[in-house]
Amino acid sequence: MTQLRNLEKATGLIAQEDQYYARSARIKYFDLVVDHAQAATLVDVDGNRYIDLLASASATNVGHSDERVVKAITQQAQKLIHYTPAYFHHTPGIELARKLAKLAPGPSTKMVTFGNSGSDANDAIIKFARAYTGRQNIVSYMGSYHGSTYGSETLSGVSLNMVRKIGPLLPGVVHVPYPDLYRKYPGESEHEVAVRYFEDFKRPFSSFLPADETACVLLEAIQGDGGIVKAPEEYLQLVYEFCHEHGILFAVDEVNQGLGRSGKWWSIQHFKGIEPDLMSVGKSLASGLPLSAVVGKKAVMESLDAPAHCFTTAGNPVCCAAALATLKIIEDDQLVERSASMGEYVKQRFLDMQKSHPVIGDVRIWGLNGGIELVKDQKTKEPDNEAATKVIYYAFAHGVVLITLSGNILRFQPPLVIPREQLDKALSVLDDAFTAVEQGTVALPADNGKIGW
Ligand SMILES: Cc1ncc(COP(=O)(O)O)c(C=O)c1O
Repeated sequence: MTQLRNLEKATGLIAQEDQYYARSARIKYFDLVVDHAQAATLVDVDGNRYIDLLASASATNVGHSDERVVKAITQQAQKLIHYTPAYFHHTPGIELARKLAKLAPGPSTKMVTFGNSGSDANDAIIKFARAYTGRQNIVSYMGSYHGSTYGSETLSGVSLNMVRKIGPLLPGVVHVPYPDLYRKYPGESEHEVAVRYFEDFKRPFSSFLPADETACVLLEAIQGDGGIVKAPEEYLQLVYEFCHEHGILFAVDEVNQGLGRSGKWWSIQHFKGIEPDLMSVGKSLASGLPLSAVVGKKAVMESLDAPAHCFTTAGNPVCCAAALATLKIIEDDQLVERSASMGEYVKQRFLDMQKSHPVIGDVRIWGLNGGIELVKDQKTKEPDNEAATKVIYYAFAHGVVLITLSGNILRFQPPLVIPREQLDKALSVLDDAFTAVEQGTVALPADNGKIGW
């Protein structure tokens, strides 16, 4: 397959950047230098147009540069770019804290703290959980991605490069396996999977992790970077009950899956009656401007005094104004409902493709939010990383941007506003990509070994 796009300017710019930009901060995919974007369309510096199936890693749920967000940012920037909430107050911050406290799931009164990234929000969860319970240990999950600060990187369990060379990491973090319904044992029911993984969850508590010294369990109700994997309902309920029995806080990371991405406001709302004690939010909150939040039960959030968790630029007024506009768009344009219904449509399309493309092993979709797992053989379920890389490479060459997770899983997370026409176009490019890969007509660039996580 020949390169269909002219990437001349991009290639030159990237060659310049390579001299100065440390490689620790970018996972390599394609030579895409984004110049501007609108809704679900990206335009690169060479003038090529792409359909965005990544939404800036789920950070632009309401679409790129929506005019209502742009207006809110512009008006706020003209009034006040920043005054630090570390000492004084500003109206967008006051309004946003109230809004998020009301939006969080469950009936308890909530309080909010702001940060600059999803990572520091998860660090905050560690701090508040330890402070409130007076206990040190935290349980998190294999396959999870919680961020890149020391705390959140310790909580993560998805990439060796996140632990190599940088230890020691934070003490007191224990990882347990996340339930995998796709690779269950032959004949195993969902109930049996839930019970088996709950036994795995409990094992540390009977051997090296005293429950009465454990502060919190932190999880993604749907693992994002782990491959869009949703735990069985029964499993999560068992973990939730276990936490209640032992005075352990139950915390949820909604940085990737929150704000309508999964077809609910919060992915934890796929599970009945669960009210997290603490919840982290980021990414799409301010449409990609640097803003995160932790929303927690009042008593938990009152367990720390300033400046235990306080940043000069957290809760920046421009970011808060962008967030208020973003949340209003999600409500006004009914994007949660749109995500749910379009997600069902996309799921059906991929299930139809699976009938004619044996490379598609599993289709996991909740909302406009999918993990399409590619395998060498549908029976053995052996991951096919090469096929996945070829599919995204073909898609890029044909004007569709998406990336992989865990090497063999296609990450499908377009802006929730993507027009149906563009969605159909992108799906038909992917259908063609599967065919091309199966026919062996996709050649990868020479440096393909470096593509992906
Ligand atoms: C579930 C989850 N939590 C936390 C983070 C970290 O957010 P940030 O990159 O804004 O620090 C991410 C980022 O991908 C994420 O997917």
